[in-house]
Amino acid sequence: MARIALAILILGCCTCAVWSVNDRLREVYSWKQLDFAFPDHKTKHAAIASGEYVQANNLPLGLEVWRDKLFITVPRWKAGVASTLNYVSLGSGSNNNRSPRLVPYPNYKMNRLPATGQPTTNHIINTYRLSVDKCDRLWVIDMGISNGTKLGQPQLFVFDLNTDQIVRQFVIAQDLLRVDGNTWFPGLLADTDSNSCNKAFAYLPDIGGGLVVYDFRQNTAKRIEHHYFYFDPLATVFHIGGVRVEWPDGVFGLGLSERHQNGFRTLYFQAMSSTRMFSVDTNILQSNTTGTNTFEEYRHLGYRVAGMQAGAMSVDEPTGTIFYALVNQDAVGCWNPKQHDRLSPKTSDVLSQDSETLEFPADLKVDQDSNLWVLSDRMPRFRFQVNNFDLEDVNYRVLRAPVADAIRGTVCESPRTLTRPPSSPDQPSPFRPTTITTGGSGWNTPSSRMNDFD
Ligand SMILES: *[C@@H]1O[C@H](CO)[C@@H](O)[C@H](O)[C@H]1NC(C)=O
Ligand SMILES: *[C@@H]1O[C@H](CO)[C@@H](O)[C@H](O)[C@H]1NC(C)=O
Repeated sequence: MARIALAILILGCCTCAVWSVNDRLREVYSWKQLDFAFPDHKTKHAAIASGEYVQANNLPLGLEVWRDKLFITVPRWKAGVASTLNYVSLGSGSNNNRSPRLVPYPNYKMNRLPATGQPTTNHIINTYRLSVDKCDRLWVIDMGISNGTKLGQPQLFVFDLNTDQIVRQFVIAQDLLRVDGNTWFPGLLADTDSNSCNKAFAYLPDIGGGLVVYDFRQNTAKRIEHHYFYFDPLATVFHIGGVRVEWPDGVFGLGLSERHQNGFRTLYFQAMSSTRMFSVDTNILQSNTTGTNTFEEYRHLGYRVAGMQAGAMSVDEPTGTIFYALVNQDAVGCWNPKQHDRLSPKTSDVLSQDSETLEFPADLKVDQDSNLWVLSDRMPRFRFQVNNFDLEDVNYRVLRAPVADAIRGTVCESPRTLTRPPSSPDQPSPFRPTTITTGGSGWNTPSSRMNDFD
């Protein structure tokens, strides 16, 4: 019996050696726990004393890059989050601290929760994923919910990054949300014409099965619904870091192609609980027609094998590569529609997979200089307080690679396809979830049904 266990262990290690090498992405920052740059020591100590700041409850989730600012969001899933919208300086002036404190953006005051009974409007309560556009603006969607309590309506903020001023604040009205309350915006994507900054849109995926389109010039928003925005019922079970989660999450990751001759682009989208990719022309999203009479304009572009569900997504415009976070595989994948028009197991690739450093890739972004950034954070273990979430371990990481290095030798770089035998979508993924090779609590941890709507 012991001998068999040993054999399995050794096999596990071999699998590690092949699949768990994260040699394309370089670690830029890592943290055991996050800390913040408070205005002063007194404020920090008061925040700790009052419970306004509980260090262990702060988990980084989203990232975005603008010049020498690396933005990092911290969702208010639990109480004690010091600040939800933050950045760290990438500039050469900053020292070599590899675990820098997060600086609240635009300031600490705006990131504090309002006192009970006070208006929430000028506070950023709870934000996840961000978008920087070509006009130096930061787009933020705030869910308005803290520690499971709704404090205000979801709100869209747009900041001018050159002045750090709010240039737009838009409350997402109730009629743009699901009537049953199950709306959740995991992020947003800005689509701006750099020749005319007023001509801008933001697309907000609702995992409840919709897409909200915000028109900056008109200052209006509308909701579009389509069957392709829903989850696949067969792809709702995830095993991440030894935690089994059921996520019925619809449309989540969005990416934009370069601009076509007609001025519009292709929006690529996929549900979190699905392995399929879809697209629609932004012309359809921006026009005044409704989803029902444009059904045929939405296209199905193919699939990855079972187990390869993806969350966050980002596009490198020069090469056309679409990167996505393979949350169930501790991996980052890619597909390049400029090289292969259909997504399939042979036309998509895994460029990095590592059960240690990529456990739950929560967000990824390609910046304007074609660097791929990835944030991983062990989120399921953190959220469910599974006993193997260790505050003394390195839990949160930011990794980076130039896109050219990230895709080198993959099918995203050239018209070549993978020669490994195609797997049927009904077969388990060739990449086993990490719990097998890492040991720890493995499959025996309690199942958790996760409610993402809080
Ligand atoms: C946060 O939510 C938990 C669970 O509902 C609750 O027990 C706790 O009191 C809340 N904390 C604060 C500070 O509101
Ligand atoms: C769409 O509707 C808005 C408001 O009704 C209007 O201002 C705009 O011109 C319309 N756009 C097109 C392309 O018809």
